Amino acid sequence: MNPSARPRVFSGIQPTGSPHLGNYLGALRNWVRLQDDHDAYYCIVDLHAMTMPWSPAELHARTLETSASLLSVGIDPEASVLFLQSHVPEHVELSWVLTCIARMGELRRMIQFKERSKGEGESVGVGLFAYPVLQAADVLLYRAHRVPVGEDQRQHIELMRDLAERFNAQFGDTLVVPEAYIRGPGARIMALDDPTQKMSKSAGRPTASILLTDDPGQITKKLKSAKTDSGTQVRAGEDKPELTNLLSIFSLVTGEPTESLEGRFQGRGYGDFKAQLAEAVAAHLTPLRERYEAALADPGELERILATGAKRASEVAADTMADVREAVGLRRPQA
Ligand code: AMP
Ligand code: TRP
Repeated sequence: MNPSARPRVFSGIQPTGSPHLGNYLGALRNWVRLQDDHDAYYCIVDLHAMTMPWSPAELHARTLETSASLLSVGIDPEASVLFLQSHVPEHVELSWVLTCIARMGELRRMIQFKERSKGEGESVGVGLFAYPVLQAADVLLYRAHRVPVGEDQRQHIELMRDLAERFNAQFGDTLVVPEAYIRGPGARIMALDDPTQKMSKSAGRPTASILLTDDPGQITKKLKSAKTDSGTQVRAGEDKPELTNLLSIFSLVTGEPTESLEGRFQGRGYGDFKAQLAEAVAAHLTPLRERYEAALADPGELERILATGAKRASEVAADTMADVREAVGLRRPQA
């Protein structure tokens, strides 16, 4: 297919530590699938990682580690444009323009902001508040049609649609109004120790998440200690959130439908089920871990991939930004 005729996808991930199973099953697997028949832009959003307190040395190291993780799950830098957000300054420029049409009320309603700012009162960071506007700029800059993300990002995508529509209504048709691409039972993987919370990097509880870099021993330990109800039946259902989550993970890493797993583990108890689940997860993640380590062992190659990605991304970003500047009435310097 002619690349320019294909629909465009854009998505981003924060470089805040190894991706976990939720990131992978909810988002990254779809990134990989979409790169074959879409014009794909995948971005490591290092500027977003500065909305919570950060260590410069860690941020510096994590951006490269996250690039290695993305290669390990199957992002192909030939098929997709893989790059760092801070390498393309237009993200910040468009973000400012959108900040000037965004409203306090709509940002204050963002669930992620409410969760992350809990207890902070008046000292909550302005960056955390403006976070979804930068995210809108990320996507709108590439005039992307689809945004593959997990369920937790639905509200942020709604906001970027509103901002794009408002911009177009006010300044003429300039931006593409994108759609969320949220698919399947992986879209919301829950924490292993608390099925009422999503699996998250910021949980700060090592037993809550399985990381893509975990080895089989760590995977077994975490799944052994995963919370289950006091019953014995391996079955999904609204009354069994823990088992439902574990069965989805099992089904997603093996491709075996949940009903078939329920049949197979009938009368066998949670211990047996968890041991088999650990084996299946480890088998799925081992090749990823190996590819991750190999990629990280060659930082020069990772840097080269990111530099090429930034160049390709910049071409599109410059084009959109030129249209945006003209639409809003900013003057260009005359030679
Ligand atoms: P983040 O780690 O916040 O940068 O998220 C990267 C991607 O993973 C986003 O598309 C999220 O929606 C997705 N994601 C994060 N946590 C989960 C989860 N527990 N289940 C499914 N998807 C998730
Ligand atoms: N906010 C997203 C998250 O926490 C990450 C992100 C930043 C993103 N920019 C994006 C996702 C653009 C999709 C598109 O997961």
